[in-house]
Amino acid sequence: MAGIAIITGATGGLGMEFMRAVNEWPDIDEIWAIGRNADKLSAISASYKKAVPLQADLLDNGMEIISEKLSFEKPDVRLLINNAGAGYFGLFEKMDSKKVENYCNLNCTIPSVLISKVLPYMHEGSGIINISSASSFQPNPYLALYSASKVYLKNLSRALSMELAPKKITVTAVCPGWIDTDMLPHEKDGQSIKYTGMISAGKVVSTALKDYRKGKDISVPGGFSKWFRFYSKVTPTKIVMKQWMKITGKYI
Ligand SMILES: NC(=O)c1ccc[n+]([C@@H]2O[C@H](COP(=O)([O-])OP(=O)(O)OC[C@H]3O[C@@H](n4cnc5c(N)ncnc54)[C@H](OP(=O)(O)O)[C@@H]3O)[C@@H](O)[C@H]2O)c1
Repeated sequence: MAGIAIITGATGGLGMEFMRAVNEWPDIDEIWAIGRNADKLSAISASYKKAVPLQADLLDNGMEIISEKLSFEKPDVRLLINNAGAGYFGLFEKMDSKKVENYCNLNCTIPSVLISKVLPYMHEGSGIINISSASSFQPNPYLALYSASKVYLKNLSRALSMELAPKKITVTAVCPGWIDTDMLPHEKDGQSIKYTGMISAGKVVSTALKDYRKGKDISVPGGFSKWFRFYSKVTPTKIVMKQWMKITGKYI
């Protein structure tokens, strides 16, 4: 029985780095690389010998595709990385209700359902990494839905890490600050956007995997995010939110 890893959002900035790292793990024979972009999936397939590209839109029939493959192959899933995610930076009222539904589904429902589908194929020593965000440390106006969705994923992960501890299945929530990927716009109306404490996808992945291996339920990559987590804990939430609005409001 092949030992497999499943990575959603494998075609994105962080997902590609996870692909690169997990491809080196000796106990993983196959990596199911999930994404929508066919060209990027072909490039992944050409670069990583363990990659099994699965073109799947998780907001369409992607879950059925994964589900059928799981039932057919009954693999030994050693690692699930719920990495696919998206967010809207701006006023909540500017999003139509379909967008609101899609973001909730992609960031909350899909990872939860995927965990429930994959768990029957996991055994002692396997684990789950869920990509949350430093946005989960406090409510973020202009990223309201995104930060709420990342709290969901963080709390789900930490609670599951306790529930699954007797089975020796590790669950780690990864909470990075700004990461240099295509998810972030670099300018708004000709104004370049400054992201405080931005770090590389490679740094996030190496910290996340190190913390996962130590069995930590939360991983906070980067000095700025660690400081910000502490600051958000000791400062009244209203003050943190007001400061955030002052810094980011000029880009709205
Ligand atoms: N960038 C940051 O500053 C930052 C900070 C903290 C946390 N995060 C989190 O890190 C994770 C990865 O983000 P990233 O920065 O690597 O962003 P990214 O480069 O935009 O990658 C997003 C990934 O999600 C996939 N995806 C989006 N919608 C999908 C759908 N409907 N079905 C299947 N796949 C879908 C994309 O696939 P296709 O390209 O193939 O469509 C892509 O692989 C996200 O959960 C994000 O919230 C990012």
